[in-house]
Amino acid sequence: MSTYGSFPGSRPRRLRTTPTMRRMVAETRLHPADLVLPAFVREGIGEPVEIASMPGVFQHTRDSLKKAAVEAAAAGVSGIMLFGVPEEAKKDGLGTAGTDPDGILQVALRDVRAEVGDDLIVMSDLCLDEFTDHGHCGVLDEQGRVDNDATLERYAEMAQVQADAGAHVVGPSGMMDGQIGVVRDALDQTGHEDVAVLAYTAKYSSAFYGPFREAVGSSLKGDRKTYQQDPANSRESLRELALDLEEGADMVMVKPAGPYLDILAKVADAVDVPVAAYQISGEYAMIQAAAERGWIDRDKAIMESLLGIKRAGARMILTYWATEVARGL
Ligand code: PBG
Repeated sequence: MSTYGSFPGSRPRRLRTTPTMRRMVAETRLHPADLVLPAFVREGIGEPVEIASMPGVFQHTRDSLKKAAVEAAAAGVSGIMLFGVPEEAKKDGLGTAGTDPDGILQVALRDVRAEVGDDLIVMSDLCLDEFTDHGHCGVLDEQGRVDNDATLERYAEMAQVQADAGAHVVGPSGMMDGQIGVVRDALDQTGHEDVAVLAYTAKYSSAFYGPFREAVGSSLKGDRKTYQQDPANSRESLRELALDLEEGADMVMVKPAGPYLDILAKVADAVDVPVAAYQISGEYAMIQAAAERGWIDRDKAIMESLLGIKRAGARMILTYWATEVARGL
């Protein structure tokens, strides 16, 4: 009887002996092309503004955004997901700045497309929350509830103006029922058959969005629990998935990523379209904060978090570290 039990050939540690051996047998590898950089552009600022709860992430000026896009492309990152932050005075109940062809997001889309052409997939967050004075992702009815179908009309218009401005991909993120179908129709009817839809399919109502709300200067009081998913639920994601695919989603996303790897794995198993995962602001902030205190090794923690997301089934990962990580790979 050997000292290690009744399976004498079985010594898994043999394959962990050297870095080269470990590299050879690694099942998952990160590649710059896996990564998409989410980026914020803010109207009316002369210099980039660092987001206090996301050290190292900035609200960009139009110029600094273009630079960030060029750097991301040079590093081999696949895409950039743009979020617009309008001047406070331009927010209103309907989020009209979100559909104004000269609104900050549309202007930034045109800028970035002019700068990078097709070298970077230019994506736009398709949602009203950055543009509404109440901060909700949709328009409100008389009782102050988010009105699903009235919101869909706004999303249809957003899809068109974002595509007109040059988005390769639009990412409806408001979790309204029927949003993918409406956005697909709007794109098809306005000559944008080639613009793809990345559906935020399983988007949970998460405390980890906290820093993002600062990043976009959100006016939200309250929460999004009547439209974003309950963290307690898993099966509901498969229902959302079936609907999004039926409505024409080209790619689907799970968000947040880290606390929802089970959902990501289930979704990835269930579909044949590319699956994205969004490592969100709070996931970023946690690692940055712990690293600042010297409690974890920042670079190793970042790589492990991304590898875990890919291992769970993500084809693409949206991460605020995209350019930095891509450069280091
Ligand atoms: C909605 C949107 C949000 C995020 C991306 N798109 C915020 C929300 O739903 O409250 C969060 C991204 C992050 O936290 O990094 N426009």
